Amino acid sequence: MKNKNSDYMSAIEEYGGDILHSDRMQSEKQFIQHGTTSTFSHSLAVTIMCLRIAAALHIKTHERELVRGALLHDYCLYDWHEPHKGLHAFTHPKIALENARRDFEVGKIEQNMILSHMWPLGRLPHCRESFILCLADKLCALRETFHRKKRER
Ligand SMILES: [Fe+2]
Ligand SMILES: [Fe+2]
Repeated sequence: MKNKNSDYMSAIEEYGGDILHSDRMQSEKQFIQHGTTSTFSHSLAVTIMCLRIAAALHIKTHERELVRGALLHDYCLYDWHEPHKGLHAFTHPKIALENARRDFEVGKIEQNMILSHMWPLGRLPHCRESFILCLADKLCALRETFHRKKRER
């Protein structure tokens, strides 16, 4: 069973290396997600958190899909702090999925993961990978926001 960050990174490289090293994913290093954390770092942290949750709770998952869906869940490729059409919280899962489909092969599990990661806002999660991502995303967002607050004091 995987239980170390290096094990999780090996799984991420194996299943999602093509995503991680792609030019568009790398470009997410310039966009801020929460606090001072880039969208790239956030997406990687969420993916590690997904693997950690699955291991800690002994949840059997499709690990390849879990990794790829988590890496791509915020694959919007724009700075959401800049003005844009619609409410980011509701619109970005659809935009992330459109971009993901354009650039990679995206199966049913990854699609549901990306579309439902904001639940209870928007789409309902349909599989365990999606529920894990929902939880991991919120935990990482809290950690990233809280860290900024601590630094600002
Ligand atoms: Fe998101
Ligand atoms: Fe996220």
